[in-house]
Amino acid sequence: MIKIQNLTKTFGAYKAVDNLSLDIAAGEIFGFLGPNGAGKTTTVKILSGIMKPAGGRVLVGGYDIVESPLEAKKIIAYIPDEPFVYPKLTGFEFLRFIGDIYSVPYGEQAGRIPELLDIFELSAVSGELLEAYSHGMKQKLLIAGVLLRKPRVALFDEPTVGLDPKSIRRFKELLLDIARNGAAVFMCTHILDMAEKLCTSVGIIYRGSLIAKGTVAEVKKMASGGSGGRSLEEVFLELTE
Ligand SMILES: Nc1ncnc2c1ncn2[C@@H]1O[C@H](COP(=O)(O)OP(=O)(O)OP(=O)(O)O)[C@@H](O)[C@H]1O
Ligand SMILES: [Mg+2]
Repeated sequence: MIKIQNLTKTFGAYKAVDNLSLDIAAGEIFGFLGPNGAGKTTTVKILSGIMKPAGGRVLVGGYDIVESPLEAKKIIAYIPDEPFVYPKLTGFEFLRFIGDIYSVPYGEQAGRIPELLDIFELSAVSGELLEAYSHGMKQKLLIAGVLLRKPRVALFDEPTVGLDPKSIRRFKELLLDIARNGAAVFMCTHILDMAEKLCTSVGIIYRGSLIAKGTVAEVKKMASGGSGGRSLEEVFLELTE
């Protein structure tokens, strides 16, 4: 579903992403790990079509994100690291807007929107303007918008930052649900414990280059000492030292 081929992005002389290649299949939850400034957000911005690559290409559901952006974007849901919402819409209006723009049938919206607002405990504020929402409330609304759409590709950039523990639990359950329904999930995260538990595969990016990829078990074997029962956190810290 997501095919990244020799992707490169430069800012001036600096290579933020350097010759990155990755394949993520339908039903997979891929965890994209790496220290601050490693190139994760840059990569996900290119996958979502909001930033142009300097070299290489990205195919989403077979569509080239640069050559066929509309076809690709129809099947992509993206939650950026800073939640953006239109401040003068209410929570309910925002979900209606997302539903309409992505052609979710009205009957389906009428059933699903109240359900999603309820799941994320936003029903009581669904009539309030989004400018009054907290960071976590905006984040939850964006996640509700993704779930309303049932996308085939979901891109999440540190999706649980700012969420309370209960919402994180809900998010994890729903993430597993959308993957089970056949979506390919690409998630940048610093929460290695969550990556270890949820991701079918992970990649570690370091200074723009992919230094490890595979299942969590495979990546653990890449660190010195091999297989001996170490956490992903220990392995990550060793590989990115
Ligand atoms: N618009 C930009 N202009 C110049 N440099 C940029 C720009 N965006 C990102 N960079 C640089 O590219 C590198 C990668 O940044 P990126 O945001 O992709 O890192 P990240 O892995 O998402 O980090 P974090 O974990 O802190 O979110 C950094 O050195 C950053 O300063
Ligand atoms: Mg980032």
